[in-house]
Amino acid sequence: MPGLDGWEIAARVHQTDSTCPVIILTGLAEIDDREASGRPGVAGLLLKPCSTEDLVRVIASVTTPGPAMGHYEITRHQPKAGRHLSMNVLVTGGMGNLGSRLAARLVERGDRVTVLDLRPRPLEDSPALHRCRLLTADIADLAALQPVLEGGSFDSIFHLAAMLSSDSEQDSERAWRVNLEGTRHILQAAAAHDIARVIFASSTASFGPGLPPLVGVDSPQWPASLYGATKVAGERLGVYFYHRFGLDFRGLRIPAVVAPRGAGGGATAFCSEIFAHAVHHGRYEFYVEPHAARPLIYIDDAVRALLDLHDAPEDNLTRRVYQLAGTPATAREMAAAVLERLPGVTFSYRPEPVRNAIVLSLPLHFDDSHAARDWNWAQRYNLGAMTERMLHELQEDAP
Ligand SMILES: NC(=O)c1ccc[n+]([C@@H]2O[C@H](COP(=O)([O-])OP(=O)(O)OC[C@H]3O[C@@H](n4cnc5c(N)ncnc54)[C@H](O)[C@@H]3O)[C@@H](O)[C@H]2O)c1
Repeated sequence: MPGLDGWEIAARVHQTDSTCPVIILTGLAEIDDREASGRPGVAGLLLKPCSTEDLVRVIASVTTPGPAMGHYEITRHQPKAGRHLSMNVLVTGGMGNLGSRLAARLVERGDRVTVLDLRPRPLEDSPALHRCRLLTADIADLAALQPVLEGGSFDSIFHLAAMLSSDSEQDSERAWRVNLEGTRHILQAAAAHDIARVIFASSTASFGPGLPPLVGVDSPQWPASLYGATKVAGERLGVYFYHRFGLDFRGLRIPAVVAPRGAGGGATAFCSEIFAHAVHHGRYEFYVEPHAARPLIYIDDAVRALLDLHDAPEDNLTRRVYQLAGTPATAREMAAAVLERLPGVTFSYRPEPVRNAIVLSLPLHFDDSHAARDWNWAQRYNLGAMTERMLHELQEDAP
């Protein structure tokens, strides 16, 4: 019975014999096509607590006459290549830069998505985002968070809510509560409410100065920023929850994200601002020195990486935290890439002490071979390609 997932089996059995008890098992599971010992009468499977409404919808959608009921082995769910089983997903920080595009992608592939954010409106709106359940809540406020996670029946959480680097330096109290306490709340709730998987957005800013030219995935993490320190702590806490409670925690260190509506609260904001200012104002003044550099990743690549890490079969993973290399580029190189396409733009440099210092403290070259080997990671956009995409998206948006 190749290619049938548990929903289909349950629905078909129910169709063949409506008196047969259809047993819905909680947890992600898939019925294998091998015969195996099992209890007669157990039809299947699958996705977490199943509402009657969902079951009725699936049963109604299966029209092919069902097979005779048999015994099936129920295995841990790993979608087969090209197949995706719909999930119930929570995206914290889902109104933000990465979160709003990620939530839209999840909806487009058929997942049920709840977005939780402080912000009532998305940084990047889209029709898909309107199909998400939207919740305004503070992850630092456990009392507000608990009912959401308790009653949500989520299969997975993408935990993206955070204060970014320069905002964290400006309000360290709040950064501590949001990035540390908030992350602990999410992990605790995931473990307590049987939420299978947590994807944590970490950062290449979790490393500090003094490292070898190529930063390995296990290089020492001694960041010079509070933001970086909170990301290291989030990674460590997640790995602790993996060992202690069996939580399927997966962390991803992301380089500087280049996006049309890039977040403004990070020291690397210039990596997105340059494009928006070039298109909208014809000029940009960098707050860093010309040789200040960051590894860049175009937002669609970053979202794809989060999804690919989430979907990667557990057996393929050799570690809990991965990193992406990005495309290293200096401010001057970014300006040159824009000038090649928009020759009239003018650039100037006025380094600002705090943000410039954070950027200069960060390493530039990262080894992402573990991600490439374990879940086939490959970045699609180099500096030229992401510049093209950015200018195109921003020009399309321009009034
Ligand atoms: N943008 C980058 O270059 C970059 C690089 C590496 C890692 N990351 C990480 O990716 C994640 C998303 O970043 P982004 O670029 O989308 O930033 P963003 O600021 O656009 O998104 C973060 C979202 O979290 C929300 N948020 C903040 N505090 C909250 C709280 N207490 N409760 C609920 N929501 C809260 C914000 O309102 C915002 O919508 C963050 O964890 C960030 O650290 C970003």
